[in-house]
Amino acid sequence: MLRKRGSFILCGAFLFITWNAVLVLLLWGKSPPEGREGVAERGGAERQADDVVADVLRMADTFEAELERQKEILLQIKNRRPARNRSDGGGAEPPATPRPPVIPILVIACNRVTVRRCLDKLLKLRPSAERHPVIVSQDCGHAETAEVIRSYGGAVMHLQQPDLSDVPVAQQHRKFQGYYKISRHYRWALNQVFRTLGHSAVVIVEDDLEVAPDFFEYFRALLPVLESDRSLWCASAWNDNGREGYVDPGQPGLLYRTDFFPGLGWMLLRDLWEELEPKWPASFWDDWMRQPEQRRGRACVRPEISRTLTFGRQGVSLGQFYDKYLRHTKLNREFVPFTTLDLSYLQEDSYRRSFQNRVYAAAAVTYEDLAQGRLQGPGPFRLQYSSKDAFKTLAKYLGVMDDLKSGVPRTGYRGVVSFFHKGRRLFLAPPPGWSQYDSSWS
Ligand code: UD1
Ligand code: MN
Repeated sequence: MLRKRGSFILCGAFLFITWNAVLVLLLWGKSPPEGREGVAERGGAERQADDVVADVLRMADTFEAELERQKEILLQIKNRRPARNRSDGGGAEPPATPRPPVIPILVIACNRVTVRRCLDKLLKLRPSAERHPVIVSQDCGHAETAEVIRSYGGAVMHLQQPDLSDVPVAQQHRKFQGYYKISRHYRWALNQVFRTLGHSAVVIVEDDLEVAPDFFEYFRALLPVLESDRSLWCASAWNDNGREGYVDPGQPGLLYRTDFFPGLGWMLLRDLWEELEPKWPASFWDDWMRQPEQRRGRACVRPEISRTLTFGRQGVSLGQFYDKYLRHTKLNREFVPFTTLDLSYLQEDSYRRSFQNRVYAAAAVTYEDLAQGRLQGPGPFRLQYSSKDAFKTLAKYLGVMDDLKSGVPRTGYRGVVSFFHKGRRLFLAPPPGWSQYDSSWS
């Protein structure tokens, strides 16, 4: 492996020198730009001297920019760990013993020095630096934050999003400038991960997320699940209704499929990025992901108990949900050995069947039953909603998230929201026979 890395660097250095030699030849041999000759003739020798100076300056600028760019590429080559064994068999390499998959962690940072809390946890918990390179992509050019990231030295790879200009937006969208920048940053960073660095999967973490002890174990176990099931498009560490009291503390290993894209610590594969990149939106990327045109009926895996916690009260959305919901999220503390568990229950057909059986076999109750404590036995129970307003009212009463995106409630699977209520499992569910979401519910 060392030899392979060494030859990578040698190869990079060779390319670097050759490229520069070619550049020097090209630039020196270049005739002055069109139109300039005539002007020089008219303006005489002084003018010509000025032009030469200007040319040299321009050349120096070009060189500087090019060197900067190449330094970045060289750094990337230097830091690069060999990607996973390619299964396409294109190379001449003999079949090696299968190497454990590499799942890089992409940390999206901007101007908060508290990225330290996120990085400290990731570095403390990662089982292997080889298998989980931490790539910090920084937007915003904030010097103090850059300093913090640099202080980790070779333990993390520091990329800087080069375009710091304002995104041109319509007058009425000025206040959303932040969302435009986030979207632009995501596109750039994911292109770095998949195209420049050639990874085949990634877990994205924002700079205000703290991860749980089994965060890496969770994603390592879900990689093959994601790879083998085209009806899944992501795995997320986040339960939107994961507040203390709303989750079953006795089931830290329980996983779900959800039609709602949770974000907040999530894994995607290169194929999905290739699909989304060409139409990546200028802003509000997460809500865009929740539209049916993007989701195309696919689900994400999410845990009963969150494997991420957000500590970013001061964010672009100005703590919309933060005080009411997010800061009460229960972060899982117990290590669940997911890679040793049988996760085949997550496969689409069997999951749908058993989930629906469980939901619709549960005793139906009314809100009054709940309010007056008339529930008998351990549950689970089912509370039915048949309209958007009924959903919202019940969700509010019960304290679960009441917003819908493209008709899908947070954590919903086929319309069903599953959570804990006073120590019992409760399903907030549409009538039996559900067939599709109504995107006009919002
Ligand atoms: C919310 C979402 C977040 C989503 C974002 C975009 C929650 C809790 N958070 O952001 O997942 O990505 O909306 O729709 O639901 N950042 C940049 N450039 C900037 C500003 C911010 O790259 O100019 C980065 C931050 O470092 C952070 C991420 O974007 O990693 C989100 O920013 P934050 O300020 O935390 O916004 P939220 O309101 O949490
Ligand atoms: Mn945030």
